[in-house]
Amino acid sequence: MFLKTTIVTALLGCLFASATEARTTCNPHSLNTTSFNYVNDVANQTVHEIAVKFNRGVCDIGRANLMVDVSVVPNLGQTLIIPGQVCHPDWTTCVIDGPGTMDCLVGGPRLYYTLNGDTLWKIAGRLNMTVDAIKCGGDGCSSQTNCTDGICPGGGGAAYSTNETIPAGQFIKVPMCYPSACEIEPYSFTQGVYKDLADKYGSTVGQIQMLSPTYNYSYIANEGGTAPPIGLAKNCRLLSSNYTVLD
Ligand SMILES: *[C@@H]1O[C@H](CO)[C@@H](O)[C@H](O)[C@H]1NC(C)=O
Ligand SMILES: *[C@@H]1O[C@H](CO)[C@@H](O)[C@H](O)[C@H]1NC(C)=O
Ligand SMILES: *[C@@H]1O[C@H](CO)[C@@H](O)[C@H](O)[C@H]1NC(C)=O
Ligand SMILES: *[C@@H]1O[C@H](CO)[C@@H](O)[C@H](O)[C@H]1NC(C)=O
Ligand SMILES: *[C@@H]1O[C@H](CO)[C@@H](O)[C@H](O)[C@H]1NC(C)=O
Ligand SMILES: *[C@@H]1O[C@H](CO)[C@@H](O)[C@H](O)[C@H]1NC(C)=O
Ligand SMILES: *[C@@H]1O[C@H](CO)[C@@H](O)[C@H](O)[C@H]1NC(C)=O
Repeated sequence: MFLKTTIVTALLGCLFASATEARTTCNPHSLNTTSFNYVNDVANQTVHEIAVKFNRGVCDIGRANLMVDVSVVPNLGQTLIIPGQVCHPDWTTCVIDGPGTMDCLVGGPRLYYTLNGDTLWKIAGRLNMTVDAIKCGGDGCSSQTNCTDGICPGGGGAAYSTNETIPAGQFIKVPMCYPSACEIEPYSFTQGVYKDLADKYGSTVGQIQMLSPTYNYSYIANEGGTAPPIGLAKNCRLLSSNYTVLD
């Protein structure tokens, strides 16, 4: 009898606890699942700040707008979809985890075109390379003269410090690994962010970006328009373990 009661109490307690937990974790009825358009009215506001403002996940906003990357800063006046709220807002799966360790780009291309809010740190992350390699190529800036605190005159990445905002629309020549290659094909971009494509097809966000340099986002999902046509870099690889850096 005593045992029975204990078991029943424990069971009830368990049921109650899980119901309470579900309620405090997420009540779908308390979510606002309506999506709406937001015209960006704050200069230099990041997608992260917009996500906080509307209580959405940064990756949910990034994917709803077919963004290159959520670290690209939206233009003033740009229309963004703010998707409906979900139980598990995604703040992580689209975020590039900082610069890589490569000193050259595996498979090219050579010219990176800057988007709004780009920094060497962000570009290095999108190309899976070190900041120094983006900045100065294979010689670590030793051929550059008149540099102060690692910032050199004469343009290219060397003219900027790591987290300084580079104006949009600048070309930066990126050192390439030789021998290395990617396959390139036309692609209809229907969902996600570039990181989803890069992870799936074996390239980087920056390489996909380099093939369609001015593309940064699309609000096709609001408009029912056609999916943006982009170039897709696939299967990027070193062709020899003994490679050299082409500056
Ligand atoms: C949900 O959000 C939309 C868009 O911001 C708003 O118009 C609507 O009033 C909200 N609904 C509720 C129940 O808060
Ligand atoms: C936005 O950022 C750019 C580049 O860093 C800067 O020149 C501009 O003054 C900033 N504008 C505002 C309103 O903060
Ligand atoms: C980044 O580069 C490293 C080698 O430095 C490689 O192991 C890794 O797979 C690359 N990651 C991506 C996402 O390209
Ligand atoms: C370096 O500075 C010196 C002295 O100001 C100048 O004559 C020279 O042209 C500069 N070199 C470069 C590559 O800017
Ligand atoms: C650049 O910004 C990143 C991200 O905010 C930070 O982790 C890093 O330490 C900064 N690097 C420098 C040299 O300021
Ligand atoms: C980003 O895309 C919008 C819409 O296509 C375009 O007007 C804008 O110039 C692009 N920004 C950059 C920096 O290329
Ligand atoms: C690597 O390549 C360099 C230049 O092509 C060559 O001199 C060197 O012998 C190669 N090393 C190996 C281990 O193949």
